[in-house]
Amino acid sequence: MKSLVLTIALLSVGAFAVQAEVIATAPTDAVARGEYLAVSVAQCIQCHSPHDRDGNLLRDQLFTGQAMPFTSPYPDGPRWAPRAPAIKRLPGWSTEEFVNILTTGKRLNGRRPESPMPQFRMSTQDAEAIAAYLKSL
Ligand code: HEC
Repeated sequence: MKSLVLTIALLSVGAFAVQAEVIATAPTDAVARGEYLAVSVAQCIQCHSPHDRDGNLLRDQLFTGQAMPFTSPYPDGPRWAPRAPAIKRLPGWSTEEFVNILTTGKRLNGRRPESPMPQFRMSTQDAEAIAAYLKSL
């Protein structure tokens, strides 16, 4: 019995250590979490920012939009958008519309952004965190 209690205690310590590690890499402050999601997880930064000829991000123009550098792999498929628009400070979108696009994959009027914009199904909290980050730029 003693060893069972000890095993459970050790397992709990192990679980706590793992949880602490996850929290350390995924920030909880809204703006920091939004940056983490937009830059490292959902890769908004790569499609919505211009690059130099070598493919490096132009650091002074992040999230100001770019022409899509690749075309659809499906020549007979639906049209692809030629450009990813600027999303720095959310020009032209209310926070509500922006959050709706990221949580449902659609605008409030039901229209879907064209490919290759992914149809995200984020949590409201994550979508609001990205909005907070982009508005802070
Ligand atoms: C693979 C490239 C790609 C990625 C990754 C991407 N986007 Fe887009 N996004 C686009 C393109 C292309 C459009 C233009 C779609 C259109 O014109 O219909 C777009 C459109 C949008 C729009 C406007 C939608 C509309 O209806 O006008 C918003 C807002 C947006 N993206 C936000 C984001 C955010 C935030 C992320 C990350 C969570 C993200 N995008 C990730 C390519 C991308």
